[in-house]
Amino acid sequence: MDKMIIKGPAKLNGEVSISRAKNAYLPILAAVLLSDKKITLKNLPELRDIKTMIKLLQNLGVEVEKEGNLTHFNPGTLSSHEATYDLVKTMRASIFTLGPLLTRLKKAKVSLPGGCAIGTRPIDIHLTNLEKMGAKINLEAGYVEADCPQLKGTTLRLSFPSVGATENLMMAAVFAEGETVIENAAREPEIDDLANFLNAMGAKVSGIGSSTIKIEGVKELHEVEYEAIGDRIEAATYVMAGLITNSEITVKDFNPHHIDFVLEVLKDMGAKLEVGENFVKTYPSKLKHAKIETAPYPGFPTDAQAQMLALMTIAEGTSVVAEHIFENRFMHVPELNRLGAKVDLEGNVAFVEGGHALKAAPVMCTDLRASAALILAALSASGDTLIDRVYHLDRGYEKLDEKLSKLGASVKRVNE
Ligand code: EPZ
Repeated sequence: MDKMIIKGPAKLNGEVSISRAKNAYLPILAAVLLSDKKITLKNLPELRDIKTMIKLLQNLGVEVEKEGNLTHFNPGTLSSHEATYDLVKTMRASIFTLGPLLTRLKKAKVSLPGGCAIGTRPIDIHLTNLEKMGAKINLEAGYVEADCPQLKGTTLRLSFPSVGATENLMMAAVFAEGETVIENAAREPEIDDLANFLNAMGAKVSGIGSSTIKIEGVKELHEVEYEAIGDRIEAATYVMAGLITNSEITVKDFNPHHIDFVLEVLKDMGAKLEVGENFVKTYPSKLKHAKIETAPYPGFPTDAQAQMLALMTIAEGTSVVAEHIFENRFMHVPELNRLGAKVDLEGNVAFVEGGHALKAAPVMCTDLRASAALILAALSASGDTLIDRVYHLDRGYEKLDEKLSKLGASVKRVNE
């Protein structure tokens, strides 16, 4: 079932509830390894990457039990320090287990994450800074082996505000001796959420929301029940679905401030939006071109770049999209051009000649957010668009078919 047919042009209506954030829960799940007390997480989204991370925890010896919308973890039974290749190869977020395993068990062996479609995605910032905390790091046969009888707090300056490195180092610092200061830390809302989770367990993290995060080492943690923030990228995607179909829909159960920059650009393009405490409502709007450059938070999020580019294909005038975070994140462009878009690429900049009505054609997903761009374009294109390799979508969009159908779209999974 990895093909989908979407009938366009679609008219949407009603409201859609946003799931809990994949990119908040993935590091939070890794942080479960820090504790030996019971942890309960609420409303974990049913996504492939979440399932993979839970399987990884179970492989390490953590007991996991689902109870309705609660998932109970007993990490007191943690029995291994090794995250093996078979699971890590399917999900680079497994690297988040390095920091927690190292600081709790004094050693860790985690398979090196492969690169992925959007870039090589090295982990040098993770490793050099763990070494600064006293870890002995050895790269052997595709594995990272880390040892340290006691990590020591110190000042770490990240060469780039890497989301994953910030998260790994925050978790490693929880049991380090003394204070760890992370300068030039990433400031994505998911980082704040991880910090709030760590503090809820009894860690001492301060500077939340700033680019200087301080972690005072502690000796032990306590039981906790926690629910992550709404998924801001899923939310941005549905807001753009409302706009690309000229519809009135309400996207709710997330914090609109987490996509302030995206909403700012959409309003500059002429989008009529109502922004509430925990929702954004779209209204039919005549959109015009814009220029965006992806940047670390609070700049324009790279994870919403593909979706915005799809929206720009129907806005009037020529838009410009510069991708500064990943080296190969325009794989949605040739597919969008198959649907009648007119997008030219020059290095890391895309020039989108808007105002062309899109027409259905068979297209193929290449990575998670590129897939979302194709969904948006298919909702606007006239005819039945056949989208192949939609398993990419299942990594980051919970119950996508159901949510789109409830909004009035005609979405069918096919086996063909
Ligand atoms: C997180 O990836 C997200 N994934 C990504 O979301 C997101 O695109 C990215 O942050 C940027 O916002 C999760 O949270 C699970 P980075 P991460 O470390 O941590 C370079 C999605 O669609 N870099 O901030 O891997 C790296 O190559 C996914 O949900 C180094 O050079 O992102 C990249 O060019 C895709 N060395 C840039 O920094 C390092 O040690 C940003 O990477 C680490 C990163």
